[in-house]
Amino acid sequence: MTSLTFKGPGQFLGALVPPGDKSISHRALLFGALSEGLSVYENFLESEDCLCLLNVLRMMGVEIEKQPGSTTVSVRGVGLGGLKPPSKELYLGNSGTAMRLLLGVLAGQHFEASLTGDPSLSSRPMRRVTDPLKQMGAQIKGKENANFAPLTIRGGNLRGIDFNNRLASAQVKSALLFAGMFAEGETKILEPVASRDHTERFLRASGAKFKQDGPLLVIEKSDRLSPFQTKIPGDISSAAFFITGAAMTEGSNVLVKDVGLNPTRTGILQVLKRMGAEIEVTVTQEIPEPMGEIRVKGGRLHGTEIAREEIPALVDELPVLMVAMSLAEDESLISGAEELRVKETDRIRSMVHNLKRVGASIEELPDGCLVKGVSELQGGVVQSFGDHRTAMSLAVASLRSRGEIVVEGTDCIATSYPVFEQHFSHLLKVR
Ligand code: S3P
Repeated sequence: MTSLTFKGPGQFLGALVPPGDKSISHRALLFGALSEGLSVYENFLESEDCLCLLNVLRMMGVEIEKQPGSTTVSVRGVGLGGLKPPSKELYLGNSGTAMRLLLGVLAGQHFEASLTGDPSLSSRPMRRVTDPLKQMGAQIKGKENANFAPLTIRGGNLRGIDFNNRLASAQVKSALLFAGMFAEGETKILEPVASRDHTERFLRASGAKFKQDGPLLVIEKSDRLSPFQTKIPGDISSAAFFITGAAMTEGSNVLVKDVGLNPTRTGILQVLKRMGAEIEVTVTQEIPEPMGEIRVKGGRLHGTEIAREEIPALVDELPVLMVAMSLAEDESLISGAEELRVKETDRIRSMVHNLKRVGASIEELPDGCLVKGVSELQGGVVQSFGDHRTAMSLAVASLRSRGEIVVEGTDCIATSYPVFEQHFSHLLKVR
């Protein structure tokens, strides 16, 4: 097991170009694979999660080329019905997004495939996707009523359903939108609270039979998808470690360039501003995905509350926000975030356990946590529990820690942000 030592206290100063967005890179591969013709994506995220999906698509006959020394990928699509039956199991590593979205695509294919993952992925709930896909007509088998990988799916002959996305899960929504392109009749998805809309943007750009009326999404069987070229914006969920670190440290000043600014993902900026952070946003592109720059200047933050409706737009940023809350003036509360318990690890438990170990005052709640800010942390040894965002959030905690923070189990960082350590050292100025 690898570990990394982060010496505190410090500040972040300088410019950051975050790596490509993970959610969008996954969708880019799938839309590219299902289109007819060549799609070219710049700034593709070459992390373990995305490379797992790339690899399994190749196993089903999709030609994907990465240009050496660049982050551009070209995907030669095989069309909606052109995937080939894989000769081996499809291994998806640690990636819940890859597994859930791919289940939606495979639900439309007339062959059988088996999906596996690492121990973390094999313990994550899949019925949220397999239940509605079965209702649409897919045959799916796996432990506890197809709740856990390994899963075997045989697709084809789907019919549309009406579905309420109560969990506000973009993965579930996306799986059903993919399946809906293969189903007879309409597939209608109601989203009481909006989740990230990258799939919808790809559907529009590819010419799928998709329409949206407020919270209601409707997809119909599509004949063909058109390929296209685009630059994938930088991942705001990766930039979030540096944005939050800078915001909570007096004297920090960071410019994040070419970063995704999709409003379904920028909840963290609203929360940090509410906590008193100085943040300026400049939008440089709107379509297909909003993108631009974020300037963050450090200062003293005060506590805030984050409730259920706000969670989907910042779900992956909650661990690092817990760090900011631990070092803010007054109390903070996160509620309605029980979904954190079924991420790569139970992120409520992992963050509360670790933050307590380094000197924070934080209590676990069933659906979040209650935090009483302290002026500095003491430092100590913490564990990632195999979760990339837990590991990177604790690295950020070192900026306001008297002693060093040793994060054990840092291999997992490569699932989403292989160059995190380099970016961290580049921006860090130790006081
Ligand atoms: C994702 C959706 C979110 C998020 C995950 C990526 C996606 O998960 O936490 O990191 O790309 O659709 P849920 O759909 O489970 O909320």
